[in-house]
Amino acid sequence: MSLVQQSLVQEIDYGTPRSKSEKIVSLFIDGEQISVPEGTSIMRAAMETGIEIPKLCATDMLDAFGSCRLCLVEIEGRGGTPASCTTPVAEGIVVRTKSERLDRLRKGIMELYVSDHPVDSLDRAKHAGFDLLDTAAAVGLEEVRYGFDGARHRNPGVDDSNPYFSFDPAKCIVCSRCVRACEEVQGTFALTISGRGFDSIVAAGMDEKFIESECVSCGACVQACPTGSLIEKTVIEQGKPEWSAITTCAYCGVGCAFKAEMRGDEVVRMVPYKDGKANRGHSCVKGRFAWGYANHRERILKPMIRETISEPWREVSWREAIGRVASEFKRIQATYGRGSIGGITSSRCTDEETFLVQKLVRATFGNNNVDTCARVCHSPTGYGLSTTFGTSAGTQDFDSVEHTDVMIVLGANPTDAHPVFASRMKKRLREGAKLIVIDPRRIDLVRMPHVEAAYHLPLLPGTNVAILSALAHVIVTEGLVNEAFVRERCDWDEFQDWAAFVSEARNSPEEVAKISGVPAETIRGAARLFATGGNGAIYYGLGVTEHSQGSTTVMAIANLAMATGNIGRPGVGVNPLRGQNNVQGSCDMGSFPHELSGYRHIANDATRAMFEALWQKPLDPEPGLRIPNMLDAAVDGSFKGLYVQGEDILQSDPDTHHVAAGLAAMECVVVQDLFLNETANYAHVFLPGSTFLEKNGTFINAERRIQLVRKVMAPKNGYEDWEITCLISEAMGYPMHYDHPSEIMDEIARLTPTFAGVSFERIEQLGSIQWPCNDKAPEGTPVMHIGSFVRGKGKFVITEYIATDEKSGPRYPLLLTTGRILSQYNVGAQTRRTANIIWHEEDRLEIHPHDAEQRGIRDGDWVKLASRAGETALRALITGRVAPGVVYTTFHHPNTQANVVTTEYSDWATNCPEYKVTAVQVTPSNGPTEWQEKYEELARKSRRIVATVEAAE
Ligand code: SF4
Ligand code: SF4
Ligand code: FES
Repeated sequence: MSLVQQSLVQEIDYGTPRSKSEKIVSLFIDGEQISVPEGTSIMRAAMETGIEIPKLCATDMLDAFGSCRLCLVEIEGRGGTPASCTTPVAEGIVVRTKSERLDRLRKGIMELYVSDHPVDSLDRAKHAGFDLLDTAAAVGLEEVRYGFDGARHRNPGVDDSNPYFSFDPAKCIVCSRCVRACEEVQGTFALTISGRGFDSIVAAGMDEKFIESECVSCGACVQACPTGSLIEKTVIEQGKPEWSAITTCAYCGVGCAFKAEMRGDEVVRMVPYKDGKANRGHSCVKGRFAWGYANHRERILKPMIRETISEPWREVSWREAIGRVASEFKRIQATYGRGSIGGITSSRCTDEETFLVQKLVRATFGNNNVDTCARVCHSPTGYGLSTTFGTSAGTQDFDSVEHTDVMIVLGANPTDAHPVFASRMKKRLREGAKLIVIDPRRIDLVRMPHVEAAYHLPLLPGTNVAILSALAHVIVTEGLVNEAFVRERCDWDEFQDWAAFVSEARNSPEEVAKISGVPAETIRGAARLFATGGNGAIYYGLGVTEHSQGSTTVMAIANLAMATGNIGRPGVGVNPLRGQNNVQGSCDMGSFPHELSGYRHIANDATRAMFEALWQKPLDPEPGLRIPNMLDAAVDGSFKGLYVQGEDILQSDPDTHHVAAGLAAMECVVVQDLFLNETANYAHVFLPGSTFLEKNGTFINAERRIQLVRKVMAPKNGYEDWEITCLISEAMGYPMHYDHPSEIMDEIARLTPTFAGVSFERIEQLGSIQWPCNDKAPEGTPVMHIGSFVRGKGKFVITEYIATDEKSGPRYPLLLTTGRILSQYNVGAQTRRTANIIWHEEDRLEIHPHDAEQRGIRDGDWVKLASRAGETALRALITGRVAPGVVYTTFHHPNTQANVVTTEYSDWATNCPEYKVTAVQVTPSNGPTEWQEKYEELARKSRRIVATVEAAE
């Protein structure tokens, strides 16, 4: 089965968007009878039957604009030559797209455009890159009567300021596609047409350079431009692509589909795929542009070993490296027992790779010491939603937002962390949907061009549960419960207990205002809006889960959705916005120590028997260690060996000192990654990993959508990551043989009821599949819990607010919360190694002007950030985005060591760390702390490599 297509994937541009009308209209175009939905443009109707009408200003990603006049047609009985992009179909009309008159008019228009273009002839070979000449040829233009020395538009010169694309105003025909893409697709409104008539020109911001404007570099304008006036710099440098394959972004949980457009085995550009059901042809700056890390000079391509962590690395052959891993792990198990080693799977790797790591741990290591980085982000989602609904995943697809009337965004910052979905949200908000933001910070969605939240509840970090109870209090006590839904779909007794609980006075907005800092009237208004505003959807992120009451908060969200009847149809639901590209998949694949794939408990005899039969290995029925328990056991001396695939726990896990102590106490730490990450400072074996461009497999996004990742180049390190896991397993005496990741997915499907109908072939056929996919749902399940919950009756859970033990006080008077920014991804290992670095060269500490003034801190000053766990230093950013008493930072740079200050507190049910609440003090400082300097030294030493071997296999 060849998964790479060796030609350029061409997508049809229908000129205008699809009409959603259900009424069908029939008409005749060039003698053919055509039936299309009412509201369809004549241009689109023609394209749908294969009749192409020349166009410049129209594209099916944007509403019709009608400025270029190239798409003229004739309609019998109507005068003139209307533009087919702006003229809707009508019953019985007879349209002609070709005639002498139309030819003449189109050529005349093109002649004018070309005469103003910076070319001296119509010679396309000579003027490669001048895409307008392709259109000129398409309309049959053979001469330009006015010559080629037209005044050309105001030409201030090429704007090369953006690292990824350039803008050449001389090539611009002012079709406004870029401006409209920025508005309609991205929702940023960074571009305008300035000037009038012949002096019109595209302007970024207040007529600034692109880089200085509010442009977010999503690239929608570049994709929309029909002339190459806006163009990727890589296309200028490398030339036009020759072939492409459809693949999936390896950054966030939105899961955008892209055409990886190639020349030979080099990526020329990534173009968002219109048929991608998660992104519908859009992308953000990371997915479209930030793939250069794959070729970064710091990427490690040869395996390396060392005896101790103070020695330099020694490059070795794959055989020697794998042999070392196997012999060390076997030695450790013989000395310290079967449970003394474990593995960590990655939410950046494919489903197949993740599945194999947990198989390695369970079948080869013979224990269940496997965990995943989802432990530190969305494990409470799994617990909370499976308890209340019966499934550990979000309930909707992204398309659902198009039917939403009121959305709650709780503890999430979609414009930075899930930008493409944020654009879809903004579009719906511009159409009139209402927004409630619950977040300590004034995130962009609270107020931005053409979007304004109806309510912003700027709660104190750590009070989510109290706020959700107060919202429920209003809904119950004011008679706003959807009783019919609750009686039919939920356990009525449990509902009544819950209703009595939330109705208690201590859960009233007035009481909760004292805890949360949110005025009671704001809470009441938000509750009424959500309960009465139509289809209500709740979107949440790590600001919900990374708390000591993370699982409780997820269940409180589920309660609210059930009480208002907002489950089981498009437009509603409970929607966790997943952070990493495959965090859903890594959980689905059985990465938790107590669960096999599909969230089935390891202690369940029947489930275990199914795996044992196929794997021909007995499995331990006892759940294994979670990541924090592995580190505790390492410090205690009973856990000695760890295989970490694609994860950087030293940087991403809380309480860095404790993580470092755990890793340092181990005898064999094996890190498999693209770069020498921070965890590798404590490693004894480094196995180079492969990028998403170099492997086949699948990722699962936040809507449970399984999508193919297609290999477009050979792995630079020699192996795809799943092959390396197989090599380790074989060397340890348990061969796992697969010829292709599709065979691993076949095994997953055999062992996992919710994946029973999934295979690579099926995904190829359907484009993508949302699980569950089985006999009952052969094409997958876009919206879950229609008619009934997976667990039967929806379960209301009493969610008592328990204040975190992490409290501000005289010594640590501020509350620190953390998050991400648009240009960077997670620990920054990839994005810091791209031009995205220009947008975020360092992590800054956001602090309110009042708190800054009290401490004598000025914008840009170095400050010390201290908690009872540790201290670090970074520079201050004074801003009103955070409330007084709250400070905020990102964790994209290892030298900031933000997790030195986060504590050991965690979610009561899942151990998900309480990243979002740390009591801190902020004081002026002179620069990095002693720990940061020492750490820099350790990291510098740890990166010494002795290149001794030509890695002969
Ligand atoms: S830059 Fe391109 S898309 Fe924008 S107005 Fe000019 S030609 Fe049209
Ligand atoms: S980072 Fe997320 S939003 Fe951006 S292109 Fe990738 S999947 Fe899409
Ligand atoms: S394509 Fe219809 S007016 Fe430009």
